Amino acid sequence: MQENEVATRLEAARAYARQAQELIVSRISGPARSLSVDTKTSITDMVTDVDRAVEKLLVAGIREDFPQDRIVGEEFGDDGGDGPFAWVVDPIDGTTNFIYGFPAYAVSIAVRDLSQDATVCGVVLDVPRDRLYEAARGMGAFVDGRRISVTGQSRLSESLVATGFGYAAEVRRAQGAMVSELLPLVRDIRRAGAASLDLCMVACGELDGYYESGLWPWDFMAGAIIVEEAGGKVSGGLEPTPGAAMTIATNGAIHDELRHLVVSLAARHGSKS
Ligand code: IPD
Ligand code: CA
Repeated sequence: MQENEVATRLEAARAYARQAQELIVSRISGPARSLSVDTKTSITDMVTDVDRAVEKLLVAGIREDFPQDRIVGEEFGDDGGDGPFAWVVDPIDGTTNFIYGFPAYAVSIAVRDLSQDATVCGVVLDVPRDRLYEAARGMGAFVDGRRISVTGQSRLSESLVATGFGYAAEVRRAQGAMVSELLPLVRDIRRAGAASLDLCMVACGELDGYYESGLWPWDFMAGAIIVEEAGGKVSGGLEPTPGAAMTIATNGAIHDELRHLVVSLAARHGSKS
């Protein structure tokens, strides 16, 4: 893998994210604001015409510039491609927030090197805060060009920890039971509603840690490399790597303690880890 192949893709990812932001902002500014909302896996799992339009924009840009690359997006799935790189995109992470105008939603773009099965760079654009987070493997993590790093907090009891909930009622019941046991053991809990931003907030020190079960690759892949490049740690629960079962991201210092607790609470409450 050539370093400049990654650099070219990171630069392109930044440009696609900015184009996506323009499209999103154009759809929510002015008197013409109107969203068409459908539901997916449950009545709580929503998607809008803007999510779909943004994904089409991202895919068209990537296809034109990198015709061989594979592209996987949340709304339209696998767009094919048999090159050594794969793009994993979430056009709007935090769709519920986007619909309500709650200011926490983002465009998330990760690039993977398939020969190494590893993410090589990622961009998360926080649309309402107009902040662009990015990282490339071995090059550090940045927000708007400024280097970021995780907190130094080493006590879980003094840590600010975020989590998130899935869209199925049964899954939420177990996730809620876990949180109720975790809450007295940490400084406080946050649930902002966009996994990619939870991860970026760990990366830049706005949170000490984050965990969530049931994430999809487009939710966490870009944010995960940003946490790692900011000096943090990302893992699964029982599994070494993050995935559908569990994603845990921390400043590193509280990682083992949080992971151990999350795994044992998940087992007690019948949640995946
Ligand atoms: C969701 C958000 C949310 C998380 C859910 C995700 P979406 O993504 O990241 O914070 O709790 O698990 O599915 O549906 O808004 O793209
Ligand atoms: Ca989404």
